[in-house]
Amino acid sequence: MNRILYLTSELFPLIKTGGLADVSGSLPDALVKRQQEMRILLPAYPEVMQQVEQPILLASNRYYNQEVQLLETRLPGNGLTVWLVHCPAAFDRPGGPYIDDNGEPWHDNALRFAIFCLVAVDIALSRLDLGWRPDIVHGNDWQSGLVPALLHLHTNRPATVFTIHNLAYQGLFDYQTFLDLNLPARLWHPDGLEFYGQLSFIKGGLAFADRLNTVSPTYAREILQPKFGYGLEGLLRHRRQRLSGILNGIDNRVWNPQEDPHLPAPYGVTNLEQKGVNKTYLQAQLGLPVDGETPLVSMISRLVEQKGLEIILRGMEELLAMPLQLVIVGTGEIHYEIQLTEWASRHPTQMKVVIGYNEPLSHLLEAASDLFLMPSSFEPCGLNQLYSLRYGTLPIVRDVGGLADTVIDANPAQIKTRTANGFIIPAQTAPDLLATVRRALDLYRQPDTWHQLQTTAMACDYSWNASAAHYIDLYHQALADRDRDAHQL
Ligand code: ADP
Ligand code: GLC
Repeated sequence: MNRILYLTSELFPLIKTGGLADVSGSLPDALVKRQQEMRILLPAYPEVMQQVEQPILLASNRYYNQEVQLLETRLPGNGLTVWLVHCPAAFDRPGGPYIDDNGEPWHDNALRFAIFCLVAVDIALSRLDLGWRPDIVHGNDWQSGLVPALLHLHTNRPATVFTIHNLAYQGLFDYQTFLDLNLPARLWHPDGLEFYGQLSFIKGGLAFADRLNTVSPTYAREILQPKFGYGLEGLLRHRRQRLSGILNGIDNRVWNPQEDPHLPAPYGVTNLEQKGVNKTYLQAQLGLPVDGETPLVSMISRLVEQKGLEIILRGMEELLAMPLQLVIVGTGEIHYEIQLTEWASRHPTQMKVVIGYNEPLSHLLEAASDLFLMPSSFEPCGLNQLYSLRYGTLPIVRDVGGLADTVIDANPAQIKTRTANGFIIPAQTAPDLLATVRRALDLYRQPDTWHQLQTTAMACDYSWNASAAHYIDLYHQALADRDRDAHQL
């Protein structure tokens, strides 16, 4: 048994912008089932405070002149212990966890997440009289990046693990911010928090954590190259002995087509025909022609460059010339929202776009669709292709990151061996995207083969079973590395 402090800036079902929330809401539960003692540390955003019942006050302290309370509550659904960093000046405001209502990063993001990190450090070093001290602090993404750096300055400290969910978001701020945050001067160094003259939160994790991992084996290799490394590939190569890739799992209870409360017609592999009921229901709901035969292609995504929107938009005219319906649910960069909405308004009987974050619709759409489009230019893991597989909705993906690790292309050889479960787009171009969609539509017209692909997809096990065990191994490696490093000092 290890005591683990798990640091996250989003947590399903309390607050979610992307896959990190899903992982934080399910991996700790899988670890508890494997005898790990988990405390999840999360900022107390207003949406969080509205949903939790009567949090208990554990401790109070001041950070950067702000009053901060540490509150304890339970995660709805699985009852895990969640500790909330309640600092109204930093977190109690309308808008997203990282950006304001205009889509701009909060001007004080460095301060907000420095407060979050300092609370984590104080818990880790038993400074808050909680009677509980972690063996391991497990940080996620730049918002918790300062923690391994600050803990590294102490001898009697927990081991640290840092998970990279997306290297494109690094938490970069100017040098003045480093000074304003009063961070130890010795951390201002190219081997420390400095990144070409800027303060990099993520480097705190990458340079100092006892163990690093990312969320798929392929992405763990990709980020050693300049194309995917965003300038951090040198540091990652330097630390490659400490870096591994562990594929994300999914919460099989939340994403279960047989028991999904958002579906008019739940289904499984033995009554797959019910999937079609969800399709016609969705078509009617969205005002599309109700037709079980027309292939329905969908996308649920943050609308950002990473997700391949450029090649979709470039190929849109030809895509919509195919006999298919297209539904996109998403929110993100405004220019993508506008362009997609315009395409939909020009093709109202073929395409619908729903701008916004809509959890129930995302479940219904996964169930209703025949194909799921995910042409990401990079994808650390990706969860939507995993949900699609489980729902018998064949993913069309690029051969990158976690997509490459989970989707097996329906080429003739792999259809024959019954391993194929989706479609791989060979290169990040509109022609390749279109050719792959055409290939998928051809197979859609071959019901026996299609049924085989669906059943193979639905039989894939991407639960946390295997991956949670890998995290426990990682924790043991981190403890061993910390002790070895301490001896060498
Ligand atoms: P990322 O974390 O890069 O956004 P993932 O595929 O790992 O990509 O996870 C995305 C998660 O966010 C999935 O659970 C997906 O269903 C959800 N999601 C993204 N956009 C929306 C939206 N507009 N409405 C509902 N859920 C969404
Ligand atoms: C990030 C990545 C995504 C991954 C998710 C959860 O948001 O973009 O690929 O699935 O984190 O790890």
